[in-house]
Amino acid sequence: MTETLTEAPGLAIDDATADRLFRTARTVTTFADAEVTDEQLAAVYDLVKWGPTMMNTSPLRLLVVRDPEARQRLVERVPENNQERVAKAPVTVVLAYDTDFHERLDVLVPHMPGARDMFAGDAAARAEAARTSGEIQAGYFIVGLRAAGLAAGPMHGNYDEIDAEFLAGTGWKSFLVINVSVAEGADTTRPRAPRLSFEDAARIV
Ligand SMILES: Cc1cc2nc3c(=O)[nH]c(=O)nc-3n(C[C@H](O)[C@H](O)[C@H](O)COP(=O)(O)O)c2cc1C
Repeated sequence: MTETLTEAPGLAIDDATADRLFRTARTVTTFADAEVTDEQLAAVYDLVKWGPTMMNTSPLRLLVVRDPEARQRLVERVPENNQERVAKAPVTVVLAYDTDFHERLDVLVPHMPGARDMFAGDAAARAEAARTSGEIQAGYFIVGLRAAGLAAGPMHGNYDEIDAEFLAGTGWKSFLVINVSVAEGADTTRPRAPRLSFEDAARIV
């Protein structure tokens, strides 16, 4: 079934925005030769940081891999089928969650003075909380890139290797690699695959 791209009944955003964020936005695997600046990435972060996280813990952290020598070290730490995609992207952002997020709760949760200590002695609870909210923030980040007119190419990396190479000595745990480019040009994507309908994906009780 071909879905219409021109009507958005039930939505509170216009068609162009719905298209830009979701309906015609695509995962880009082949990249335009265009610059993506740190200012653009900062604008995306400054937008998506407002998305909700558990207790406002905000555990998402970004490793922006821009330097050619660092990019080569990253290429060597993603699965072989993803290596060329990372090598050819203008910039790649490694998404991580911070298992030491509790050290920032004085800023993030000023209304709960005991929040830091609640997590300080429980590394397992921190890792679980950081992973859940970090992954949710990853979704916001992908949509935020699209809101900035950029295209995201999320893919897996060899995370233990990435952590050892780039994140040693921190509480950051990488979990997604996103190539960032501009969405332009033909043949930048694979064929669009269908999605489940609401009827298939939702159960109403
Ligand atoms: C968590 C996650 C992991 C992914 N891993 C890979 C990957 O390792 N290699 C790859 O080429 N694409 C990867 N993708 C891209 C997906 O295949 C792609 O986003 C999906 O098929 C939808 O494509 P579309 O946005 O063009 O419709 C990944 C996407 C996500 C969100």
